[in-house]
Amino acid sequence: MSFSLTKSKKSPPFDLDPTRLPQHVAIIMDGNGRWARARHLPRIVGHRAGVRSVREVVRTCAELGIKALTLYAFSADNWKRPPEEVSALMRLLVRYLRLELGELKRQQIRLQTIGHVERLPGAAKAWLRRVQRETAHHKGLVLTLALNYSARQEILDAARRMAMQFKQRNGQVRKLLHRDDFRQFLSTARLPDPDLVIRTSGEMRLSDFLLWQAAYAELWFTPVLWPEFRKANLLEALRVFQKRQRRFGAATDT
Ligand code: FPP
Repeated sequence: MSFSLTKSKKSPPFDLDPTRLPQHVAIIMDGNGRWARARHLPRIVGHRAGVRSVREVVRTCAELGIKALTLYAFSADNWKRPPEEVSALMRLLVRYLRLELGELKRQQIRLQTIGHVERLPGAAKAWLRRVQRETAHHKGLVLTLALNYSARQEILDAARRMAMQFKQRNGQVRKLLHRDDFRQFLSTARLPDPDLVIRTSGEMRLSDFLLWQAAYAELWFTPVLWPEFRKANLLEALRVFQKRQRRFGAATDT
């Protein structure tokens, strides 16, 4: 898979520069519980409402010609939630995959996951396998769901894999010890690093999400709760992104 900053074939709104869209947008979807609480509803109703935002954001990114979208759908720490909330989230995931498969095909979206998905319930794993298999050949948006994901665990897993490789290739250690070599051991090895990380609900932290990959990402925080996040909010984030000056550590006046 190759990613290049070519002009998108789709036409974004007139005030967005199609040549300066982020290649990879990553989103920490937050605020479902607060959205529900404000309406005196169970938390799961907030998660259910959040699926509509997922659909809208996925469709918009695909339409704009953005290459990759990563959604933080279930963190490794989310197991600490009440079992009934965890089960409801897993059922929502299955329902999403079942109902969206046709749409993913229509939009040529390829689904993949990061995180320790092997710990998910059987039905979720089976649907993930099926949707990944049936969308594997798609050339459009790469939609990555972070499930049972922890960035620190991912870095640790990568270090372990690298150490194993060192063991198998005695004498090659120094050659491999470079940060660009390290990234090949991460679960996102085939994705470009995120250019833009969005977090909803007014919280301003990364919460163990893509810690290595987001080193030079632009961060955008909005008070909007995830179930209310719509296309207009995403376009606002993209407009802000296009106004940012990205220097990657270099000086501006050289
Ligand atoms: C954070 O809100 C959200 C989550 C832990 C789950 C996100 C899940 C969805 C949007 C629905 C299912 C996803 C897919 C991809 C089908 P929170 O519960 O922490 O909100 P709070 O901070 O207001 O309590």
